[in-house]
Parts: sequence; structure tokens; C-alpha cells
Amino acid sequence: MAGNITFTMIKPEAVAAGNIGAILKMINEAGFRIVALKKTQLTKEAAGEFYAVHSERPFYGELVDYMSNGPIVAAMLEKDNAVADFRALIGSTDPAEAAEGTIRKAYAESKAKNAVHGSDSDENAEIEANFFFSRFERS
Ligand code: RTP
Ligand code: MG
Repeated sequence: MAGNITFTMIKPEAVAAGNIGAILKMINEAGFRIVALKKTQLTKEAAGEFYAVHSERPFYGELVDYMSNGPIVAAMLEKDNAVADFRALIGSTDPAEAAEGTIRKAYAESKAKNAVHGSDSDENAEIEANFFFSRFERS
């Protein structure tokens, strides 16, 4: 059965552009409950660890630089079928391919600078949430 928790980050360019509130509003209006929320900045080392799954990809260095370049907002979200429903809400990785009404269609600058992260499985949602939030903070 699908779990009810996913993890998201509002990425640096979206934070810098002043879009935290607008993106959280879209998340709330889509039926997600924010169960943990934190604005912070990743070190290069932490960004590298978070995206270690992509370490062999050609864009890895660029991704680590970008994700550590400014503050991000990390959040745990709760909803039935959270992982799949949130991936649908954020849209395709490349905003040129993202559907109308998705967060990336509205706020992503490019395939690399695409405004938000969304976990791709229940297992990764748990790992990613634990990267930013202690179990004590989870409600
Ligand atoms: P995310 O993990 O951030 O939610 O994004 P995603 O699943 O839609 O895409 P993924 O394949 O996991 O890629 C992770 C992030 O790497 C950057 N990227 N750049 N320049 C490129 O071709 C490229 N491809 C991916 C994006 O920031 C992407 O979200
Ligand atoms: Mg991904």
C-alpha cells in the first residue's frame, strides 16, 4: 500500500525569486498537510550526499553547486498516496514538458533549475525526510 508521507524541497532559485509562499499555497490547495518545515542552506557536501544517487550523471557537479548556492525550504508533506500525488503536482523534470497547473510549469526556470524536488518512492521519502528532520520533530 502506498504511504502517506513525501518529502519536498523548494530549490534555491525559487526561494531567491520569492516564491516560497506561492508554492506552499499550491501544495496546501492540492490537499497536502505540512507536517515539518525548515528553511536552511545545504553545504556542498550535504547536497552531494542528498543527490548521491546521481553521482555518475553528467549534471551532478552542476546540481551540487546549484543546490548549495542559496537557501532552500525542506518540508515533509502528508496526504493519501503522497509520493505519486506530489510527483503529479510538481510535473515533469523539464518545465517545457510540465503540464498546466503544475508547480514546475508555473515556477521552474529550466530542467536544471526546476523550483521543487519531490521524492520518487516511499523509501526515499523516509530517507530524505530523515536527512533534514529528526524523528522527534515528526508529528
Ligand atoms: P527531483 O529529484 O529534484 O525531484 O527531480 P526529478 O526526480 O524530476 O529529476 P531527477 O532525474 O531525479 O534529477 C534530479 C535533479 O537534477 C537536475 N537535473 N538537471 N541538466 C540536466 O539535464 C538535469 N537533469 C536533471 C534537476 O534539478 C533535477 O530535478
Ligand atoms: Mg528525482
